Amino acid sequence: MSILLINGPNLNLLGTREISMYGNTSLDELEKMLSSMAKEHNINLICFQSNAEHEIINKIHDARNNDVKSIIINPAAFTHTSIAIRDALSGVGIPFYEVHISDIKSREDFRKFSYFSDIAQKVFCGMGLDGYKHALHEAIKLDI
Ligand code: DQA
Repeated sequence: MSILLINGPNLNLLGTREISMYGNTSLDELEKMLSSMAKEHNINLICFQSNAEHEIINKIHDARNNDVKSIIINPAAFTHTSIAIRDALSGVGIPFYEVHISDIKSREDFRKFSYFSDIAQKVFCGMGLDGYKHALHEAIKLDI
């Protein structure tokens, strides 16, 4: 059984991007840490990052064929723009958790709205990278 972790645009720059906002851990380090957490529960974590909306949508569609039981997604800037990714998530009907490293509610006005939060199982926002760990715990609880 698998859980799919999706990180959206610019999150490949984690560790070097706006460090005061997003911290100095790289995406690779984050993915390794979460994968070993998942492994302890005999769960395979599929890690995916893309800067392209259509690639994220295709990955969500493929999830149905890959025994994916839940999705953890940080849609990054697509949070505030993408009805298409929202529709993909509701289209496949796989429960998902929304993560934001920063507290989007306390930043610029254009970040305050999320196209995902009302249909997410839970939203983890402003907890730094710990938000991913909490989301993974929740996803594992649901899956086992
Ligand atoms: C983000 C918040 C978004 O507004 C921003 O575009 C990101 C990252 C976060 O994790 O805090 O790229 O999703």
